[in-house]
Amino acid sequence: MANDAFAVSDARSPHPLADPFSPPADSALWRKNFLLGAATASYQIEGAVDEDGRLPSIWDTFSATPGKVLAGDTGAVACDHYHRWEADIDMLVSLGLEGYRLSIAWPRVMDAAGSPNRKGLDFYKRLLNRLKEKGITTFVTLYHWDLPQHLEDRGGWLNRNTAYRFVDYADLMSRELAGTVDAWATLNEPWCSAYLGYGNGLHAPGLADVCFATQAMHHLLLAHGLAMPVLRANDPASQKGIVANIGRGTPNSDSAADQRAAHLFEVQHNAWILDPLLKGAYPQDLFELWPGTEPLMLDGDMQTISASLDFLGINYYFRTNVASDGAHGFRDVPLEGVERTQMGWEVYPDGLRDLLTGFNRTYRNLPPIYITENGMASDDKVIDGHVDDTQRISFLKRHLAAVDRAIKAGVDIRGYFLWSLMDNFEWAFGYERRFGVVHVDYSTQKRTVKRSAELVAKFLKERKAQV
Ligand code: FCB
Repeated sequence: MANDAFAVSDARSPHPLADPFSPPADSALWRKNFLLGAATASYQIEGAVDEDGRLPSIWDTFSATPGKVLAGDTGAVACDHYHRWEADIDMLVSLGLEGYRLSIAWPRVMDAAGSPNRKGLDFYKRLLNRLKEKGITTFVTLYHWDLPQHLEDRGGWLNRNTAYRFVDYADLMSRELAGTVDAWATLNEPWCSAYLGYGNGLHAPGLADVCFATQAMHHLLLAHGLAMPVLRANDPASQKGIVANIGRGTPNSDSAADQRAAHLFEVQHNAWILDPLLKGAYPQDLFELWPGTEPLMLDGDMQTISASLDFLGINYYFRTNVASDGAHGFRDVPLEGVERTQMGWEVYPDGLRDLLTGFNRTYRNLPPIYITENGMASDDKVIDGHVDDTQRISFLKRHLAAVDRAIKAGVDIRGYFLWSLMDNFEWAFGYERRFGVVHVDYSTQKRTVKRSAELVAKFLKERKAQV
């Protein structure tokens, strides 16, 4: 922390709020073209799961299955954003946020035969038109995990055909919404869809076989690659890319075995996705970690997958300390005495800087980067109308400082989105884990701006006022 220009309050210091949320004068964050925004995702905020012709998604099915989501929570109502979107946009605008990253619910906009569902489409048209009217830069993710259940019933991402159905969906969306979207992301975090969804079963659809995970990943990446030229043709003025979550793995000791374990951790979390996209090949080390799991693929798939990107979205949350498992893998060795969030995730801003600078060395064709998600969960309470989320304030300052250091080290980073605009349905953890910079009272749907959001707003106001 001593060299950290943002070094202000430690999360545990008595007066953390005394420090303004203000980066040092030489920080890239002061540049007006460094986009600062917030992110959400359809299933996590919209609710209205059976309104206006929306079909069931794999998350409706999964969350209705006992034991899959904490406290039996589901996204059926969530933040009721489907009905409250106007007020939510007003809130975003009042905070001075310049960018909004949202996702479209595929089962809301297409029926099982692939025809458009006009009512669902109109919702996104209204939303995006309003955002444009307000001058907000819009990042739209096509797939943030809510696969139509009827496609899962035919094998989901294990079925190559799902990639072609995704292209139909991308085609429809980019024809209908062209002109209101500044940046399209095909997929959010294919690692989570493939590994958590098909490899260990913690996410929908809840299957658990590593061979399934590598096959699902291949079809997800293929879907991305096939959709890129369609998006380019239908909406030439926008940027097109993909969003990947990245994980930092550090070795528990200097031993060669632990160093190798940390390397394999990063292969599994990062190179599994980034190598096919940026080098046109899966990392061979992945199949040392998981022998015999090579996916089935066709000639030409890797060329399709590695088509050039206008931007790469990066989501970063924490690091994992690992040791060799004694065979060809790694095991987590949680460090003691480190700062953690409500998720139990370690707060480790250097991981973001180190990964970004590392990618810049590894991938010579690394596209411009947007940090499309970063943030933390805390057990926030409204007290006398206020939420003092002191740990989040400190977290955001330190991660924004890490982004600034990566920029100074030569990485082309163009913006940063807070995860999340508001508390929401945190997948397998339901509503207990609060990631928002705005608090949501789920019994009344009342929104309360947290102290972190007030400070971000104050900074954005100062930045805007600069000559
Ligand atoms: C990411 C997801 C996002 C949110 C955060 C906490 O993996 O993309 O929807 O749940 O984690």
